Amino acid sequence: MEDKKLHAVLDHLTLQEKIGQLIQLPGNFFDVHTATTGPEKKLGIDAAVVDMCGSVLNVAGAEKTRRVQDQHLKKNKIPLLFMSDIVYGFKTIYPIPLGLGATWDPELIEKDYQNTADEAKASGNQVAFAPMVDLVRDARWGRVLESTGEDPLLNSQYASAMVRGFQHNFDAKHGIAACVKHFAAYGAVESGKEYNSVDMSERELRQNYLPSYKAAVDAGTKLVMTAFNTMNGVPITGNKWLLKDILRDEWGFDGIIISDYAAVAELVNHGFVPTNHEATEQAFNATVDIDMKSPCYANELQPLLKEGRIDVQKIDEACWRVLKLKNEMGLFEDPYRGASVEAEKEQLITPKKRALARKTANEASVLLKNDGILPLSSDQKVALIGPYSNSQELIGLWAVHGDTKDVISIETAFNEKVDAGHLRSTLGTSLMAADDNYQGMGMSESQFKQAILSSDEQKKEDQKVAELSAWADVVVMPVGEHTVQSGEAGSRANINLPAQQVALIHRVAKSGKPIVLVTISGRPLVLSDVETDASAILQAWFPGTEGGHAIADIIFGKTNPSGRLSMGFPRSVGQLPQYYSHLSTGRSPLTSGHSSRYMSKYTDVKDGPLYPFGFGLSYHQAEYRNLTLSQDKMMADQTLQVSVELENSSAIAGTETVQLYLQDVFASVVQPVKVLKDYQRVTLKAYETKTIVFTITAEMLQFYGQQNQLTIEPGQFNVFVGNNSRDCMKTSFEFI
Ligand code: IFM
Repeated sequence: MEDKKLHAVLDHLTLQEKIGQLIQLPGNFFDVHTATTGPEKKLGIDAAVVDMCGSVLNVAGAEKTRRVQDQHLKKNKIPLLFMSDIVYGFKTIYPIPLGLGATWDPELIEKDYQNTADEAKASGNQVAFAPMVDLVRDARWGRVLESTGEDPLLNSQYASAMVRGFQHNFDAKHGIAACVKHFAAYGAVESGKEYNSVDMSERELRQNYLPSYKAAVDAGTKLVMTAFNTMNGVPITGNKWLLKDILRDEWGFDGIIISDYAAVAELVNHGFVPTNHEATEQAFNATVDIDMKSPCYANELQPLLKEGRIDVQKIDEACWRVLKLKNEMGLFEDPYRGASVEAEKEQLITPKKRALARKTANEASVLLKNDGILPLSSDQKVALIGPYSNSQELIGLWAVHGDTKDVISIETAFNEKVDAGHLRSTLGTSLMAADDNYQGMGMSESQFKQAILSSDEQKKEDQKVAELSAWADVVVMPVGEHTVQSGEAGSRANINLPAQQVALIHRVAKSGKPIVLVTISGRPLVLSDVETDASAILQAWFPGTEGGHAIADIIFGKTNPSGRLSMGFPRSVGQLPQYYSHLSTGRSPLTSGHSSRYMSKYTDVKDGPLYPFGFGLSYHQAEYRNLTLSQDKMMADQTLQVSVELENSSAIAGTETVQLYLQDVFASVVQPVKVLKDYQRVTLKAYETKTIVFTITAEMLQFYGQQNQLTIEPGQFNVFVGNNSRDCMKTSFEFI
């Protein structure tokens, strides 16, 4: 309907009805079970609030959403909005975002999210709580799984691609609304511990952490979700500076701001305010429109109004933002927005969507090591030994609407590749250890029992491991973390492979047979203790519905791996946080010239990551040569061309991701040793040579200066080009 008519709708709502639009409740309030990700204390929400509430959390499926909508419309004239965690797929599940990050292919990711929107819409969801664009540097944090990695440029490109994918042709009939999260800097929680605090300078925030949210806002995201953390002592959900001054006023965001789950009420737990009353005042005045799953707005907005502590016009504005989105989505005309069981049949997990998921999982997998053992051929005798060998649990923690029954396991996919009788498989050991704190991971006792082996079962496995290793030409070992060990509330202080799996790898290594490790995880693991046992390592993440196929495609050479890490792998957990774009120190091991002791390093671990940002191997051989600049000086109104020759010296066609990094060598604010400024995915035929050209612009030389303003300073800039952030060719120019 036209805005004028919608204004009339708003004008006819009672104050209580308007407040209702600002409240979101989970399915449990509508007799539909939904996962709870926060404390389940009695909410203090009565039936009248449920009847007037404006949106529902994590209810999916056409049958359920239609039923809930029907019930609601008997008591309320404004249709509900259905919002959900649709983070990397709806029914067709793609690799976790940290895997998507490794594709360096935002166009592909945009298509994934477009498909996801079509599925979600058919099932009755209208808003996705995604993209999650938090920049991450500490792999202990379980939610690195949902992030695309450690780099602001890549994260920003993925953020806009995801928003564009969800909101493709957005109108009453197309797309779903994106809700970028978690604004802001949730990825920087201290020591990688979930729900912890963040303390950082405004300069650091603007330089590295804000760009990805800004990119999502610029791409038109309809909603923004606040983060759980504090920022310099002020919880984000009550942080007027971030929400009002930066997000709304500076960036011009006029969409809906929604709190994270119970985050308004948690302002009290933070010790920021004494009661829900003040919590509501702080959040509302910071321009949070919707209170997700807390009793605050429902019970406190009216009293606050009476006291004059909030403004009635602001209630109208917040309510207007919600009604406007509902109207844009055509919910007043069709409250189901096309969701139906028939639409689901047409849209969910179609062969085309599976094919895209398989392609994406292929591009997301990163080959970390290969001494030449890969690719395997179909006539080799392959033993699959490892707890993920025949598992369908390949979708990860945040695929909340995905179904593991739809997943292709590694064993199923290998059977399609090897000659008859050439594949044997066993678990070898359990996914989890018997002394794991399963309750702390939110597992039930019966779930936990499925993830461990009894001592009798383990003895049988030991026997089979010995037999299979003796029989095989090569042992492929799918190992990794259990689903519950990453994702929200999945922080770990120890990020090695579980000890029993490490022992299994050592045992197989003793057989002398070559080992191909396939690592399934929601984070970069510390692989230092198993790296030397393996002839090859394929990092497959949680690869999604088509994961087994993608892994088999790479291992048997149907595809040439092209994934490149968007987050480095540490050598040791003690190195965290770790990131390639760290600042120059006064005592760098590379340049300080100090004696070996008095340098910026650890005394017990080699410097730098085990596998750096940007790293990944392929089956072809690429040589980088002749790095040249179009001129050795540049002025602000000029650009400069960087060219490099790239030769595929092998008989295998492949894709190289050529990466351009810059370093501002001397600046009034110390700059990182390297920052990614551009990249190109280049496909090379066998023995093909190409010249790759990048353009350096003045904008690429900017940084946030001492007054937090964008600035650019004359002086020397180093230029690095290579196939990862560590192994680059180098040249330099002068900015004048
Ligand atoms: O969207 C999520 C958020 O990422 C973490 N807390 C719960 C929300 C809704 O499920």
